Amino acid sequence: MCGIVGYVGTTNDGTALDVVMEGLARLEYRGYDSAGVALLDGDHVETRKKSGKLANLTAELEARPLPASTTGIGHTRWATHGGPTDQNAHPHRGGKDGKLALIHNGIIENFHALKQGLLADGVEFASETDTEVVAHLVAAAYEQHRDLTTAMRAVVADLEGAFTLLAIHADQPDVVVGARRNSPLVVGLGENANYLGSDVAAFIGHTRHALELAQDQIVTITPEGATVVNFDGTPAEGKAYEVTWDAAAAEKGGYATFMEKEINDQPHAVRDTLLGRTDPEGRLILDELRISEEQLRNVDRITIVACGTAAYAGMTAKYAIEHWTRIPVEVSLAHEFRYCDPIVNERTLVVSISQSGETMDTLMAVKHARELGALTISICNTHGSTIPRESDAVLYTHAGPEIAVASTKAFLAQITASYVLGLYLAQLRGGSFADDAQSVMKELAGVPAKIETLLAQMGRVKEIAKFMADTRSVLFLGRHVGYPVAMEGALKLKELAYIHAEGFAAGELKHGPIALIEPGQPVFVVVPSPTSEHGLHGKVVSNIQEIRARGARTLVIAEEGDEAVEPFADEVIRVPATSPLLAPLLTVVPLQVFALWLSTAKGLDVDQPRNLAKSVTVE
Ligand code: G6P
Repeated sequence: MCGIVGYVGTTNDGTALDVVMEGLARLEYRGYDSAGVALLDGDHVETRKKSGKLANLTAELEARPLPASTTGIGHTRWATHGGPTDQNAHPHRGGKDGKLALIHNGIIENFHALKQGLLADGVEFASETDTEVVAHLVAAAYEQHRDLTTAMRAVVADLEGAFTLLAIHADQPDVVVGARRNSPLVVGLGENANYLGSDVAAFIGHTRHALELAQDQIVTITPEGATVVNFDGTPAEGKAYEVTWDAAAAEKGGYATFMEKEINDQPHAVRDTLLGRTDPEGRLILDELRISEEQLRNVDRITIVACGTAAYAGMTAKYAIEHWTRIPVEVSLAHEFRYCDPIVNERTLVVSISQSGETMDTLMAVKHARELGALTISICNTHGSTIPRESDAVLYTHAGPEIAVASTKAFLAQITASYVLGLYLAQLRGGSFADDAQSVMKELAGVPAKIETLLAQMGRVKEIAKFMADTRSVLFLGRHVGYPVAMEGALKLKELAYIHAEGFAAGELKHGPIALIEPGQPVFVVVPSPTSEHGLHGKVVSNIQEIRARGARTLVIAEEGDEAVEPFADEVIRVPATSPLLAPLLTVVPLQVFALWLSTAKGLDVDQPRNLAKSVTVE
């Protein structure tokens, strides 16, 4: 939520603006209510900012160009305090002479009280934002300390809430200062040029050398390097790491949208997430976990905390982990977790799932779980992000950067990683499923090829989506692991096509939702494999008949060779056969493709749906 870029270099040829604008283009998925830049120009600061998408700022810069500069900051906003207007766009200026420019991601919870103090001192405000309050405070502190790092340190001590702040000051050229608390900020280390960003995408076109910061730290970048101090002034050091992907991974690679590219990346996402997690005998090895085997053997309850798509990955994992380990698994929406007085102790394993590693709701749930004494493992796609740092251990998904706001490949990678974790726990604990771990891992290794086959036969789904461009409502049904897939299918459609969509457990239909069925109502049904236990397949086939009898238009996702669905399906979408627990890695794909092409058919922005942001860093 909000993208932040900072740059300082040595070449005074317009590089600062180019670097900042390139960074903003790569970070726009974090928020697109407005965008703005500030550059140092001799003894003053120049800003340009515009409401709406980055294209509006680009047009503004063409109409009112900025001078060449070596130092700049830029921001792309997801509005919290104050509407998405030009005035409320960042950067904000501080001080009477406006020599300071500041950008912010997060919320300053005590901004109102701080603002009253500034108003009493006669400070005039140009916006309704909490950010401008901080800009004035840092400008005033600069007058006292004559050093931007010291000024920032003086001010953050009085701030409550979550924030990443970046500031430049006209009297201190070649310096950008950043501060973070519970909000993302990473450093990029170049040659005679250094960078700051909400995530590494901000500077991936220039360097893959990155520095991870801890909470409550301030970083000062100059062309020569980066220095880090804690909020209390004690010196600190960032943790250096290499970004494992390059700029090409953050580009569309010939596809019209990031979402289409990411759907097609899914075989890689699953394959790479499985890499290096078994020894030559096929036994799982997770030495990266940093939690002792003894502690893991002692676990008697698992709680998964996550939001959105990640929560549906968690719901899918619940079925598999309980089946393999016989440990009770609960899935809690992260924003509800803290408030339900959770039953958590030192024998509870709290597994957070987050693509970005920055979702504030999930972060707060993890912190709460640790306070209660739980062991915490983060399943995360973003190296150097906050949630893994705040957890006892991390199991990275290797989906590569996910840019489209609606999550696709991260979902498959999250299911894969949580299955790996479940199988590892089964192996550790012994018991009847310990021996199965290896055969399931083997089958998982075959899933990427099946996704490839499936992706190659999505032409009909695309046609159906185009044909349904005017549809007002779509329902999704599934049972067992097909139930979270149904909910994920509905979420994709809400996010991307702004259509009323709901996912139900197919068995629940007769308890109410069946009243929604009227002639022509489109219903996707995720049919379990005919090899499923407990007659599951037959029950879902009966459900299809029940809705068909009431006029529903049935769009049935079924395994190759499952002939039982044919008589009751208006459309059959085939997926390769696989064992029931692995089926979600396949059955969700047509639903993603359907949402992508329905949104496209409606002429909507697939990668940046309205009102959303990729990384939700406010509660
Ligand atoms: C936002 C995004 C969703 C995502 C959710 C969780 O709501 O729009 O696509 O599933 O956040 O994000 P995370 O980064 O924690 O997986």
